[in-house]
Amino acid sequence: MSTTDTLAPVPLARKMQRIKPSASMMAKKKVETLRSEGKKIIDFTIGEPDLKTPAHIAQAGIEAIQNGCTKYTATSGIPELLRAIKEKYQRENKLDFALDQLVVGTGAKQLIFSALSVTLDKDDEVIIPAPYWVSYPDMVLLNDGKPVILEASEHNGFKMTAESLEAAITDRTKWLLLNSPNNPSGSLYTEAELREILAVLQRYPHVLLMIDEIYEHFSYEQDYISPLMVNSGLGARTLLINGVSKAYAMTGWRIGYAAGPAYLIKAISTLISQTTSCASEISQKAAATALSGDQTCVRETTALYKKRRDTMVALLSDIPGLVCPQPQGAFYVFPNVQGLLGKTTPSGKTLSNDLDIVHYFLDAAGVAVLDGTAYGVPGYIRLSFATDLETIKIGCEMLSQACSQLK
Ligand SMILES: Cc1ncc(COP(=O)(O)O)c(C=O)c1O
Repeated sequence: MSTTDTLAPVPLARKMQRIKPSASMMAKKKVETLRSEGKKIIDFTIGEPDLKTPAHIAQAGIEAIQNGCTKYTATSGIPELLRAIKEKYQRENKLDFALDQLVVGTGAKQLIFSALSVTLDKDDEVIIPAPYWVSYPDMVLLNDGKPVILEASEHNGFKMTAESLEAAITDRTKWLLLNSPNNPSGSLYTEAELREILAVLQRYPHVLLMIDEIYEHFSYEQDYISPLMVNSGLGARTLLINGVSKAYAMTGWRIGYAAGPAYLIKAISTLISQTTSCASEISQKAAATALSGDQTCVRETTALYKKRRDTMVALLSDIPGLVCPQPQGAFYVFPNVQGLLGKTTPSGKTLSNDLDIVHYFLDAAGVAVLDGTAYGVPGYIRLSFATDLETIKIGCEMLSQACSQLK
């Protein structure tokens, strides 16, 4: 039998029919394939910093290997990293967590999945505002839950309102899963908006709040405000998700962390103990250095991204058919491309939806972007500005030329 057979001799679990591969991971693969065929592709699909992990953090990883820190660790994380996380929350968010309220995971992704896994029973509902990070609904589905998608319209800055949240809550609601700054829209909830949302949750004690703060440091117009800084009364029901992937250009080190009520953290830790055991000790050592060391690198990266954002928004806004709101945070822009729908390409194809537009941009301009449909809102595309200024300028020029050839 060939090892490359794609047909399973025994059926896969039924739950696998509920999910699909991550759109951003698929895009990464496609760009790599096209490049390996010799095609020149400008990649705006990237969901990770283009920068290297800062040298002092990388050095901590090297020293960890040299010092033999290459073993299993306590499931919830090494004490040094847990202390660094505790101090990070005190320093940056004015929040106090005991060490048993913190857990380290193999990326924020594992912790979001684990939190859902230890809380969801069949058909429990998770409210997810759209646009959303591609993985949230599939993670809910894998854990037998029901994603309840709540549209957060462009007119409201891609943010859900307190009223729409209240209307979506039922007896089966288990979580509100919020992401601010948001991937893909870059939206950021203000203190006043958070106050209103938290006031709704206060009235529904059976609902938990998970907030994915992975882009916390990429907030360009205002300091990031965590929900627990606004309303500490929800502490017994709130799980904060964060990690070092984006802030410190450490995606490949795979370290995330969560902070919340001890009972939930303990359950997540138990699940990790029976699945991956613990995060890599080498990476944990490096993450401890990242969180407790000099934070200049984070401030410099944020300033760099702000410049890139301004350039990309300005260039895209000049393209007829695109409407490009200025993102407040994260490193993506999410233009409305509905002005291109119905137009015809030089080869005679009519652009009927955002996926057609994505394919046209790849074929005609050699520029890879992601479709809004993958993020729950058709009619938009996502472009990452986690790439250098020169590439941003060239890529936007190619898109402009491709758009000018549409009839
Ligand atoms: C909103 C959001 N949350 C979580 C993650 C995953 O982070 P990590 O690398 O820590 O697993 C990503 C990665 O793209 C993301 O965009």
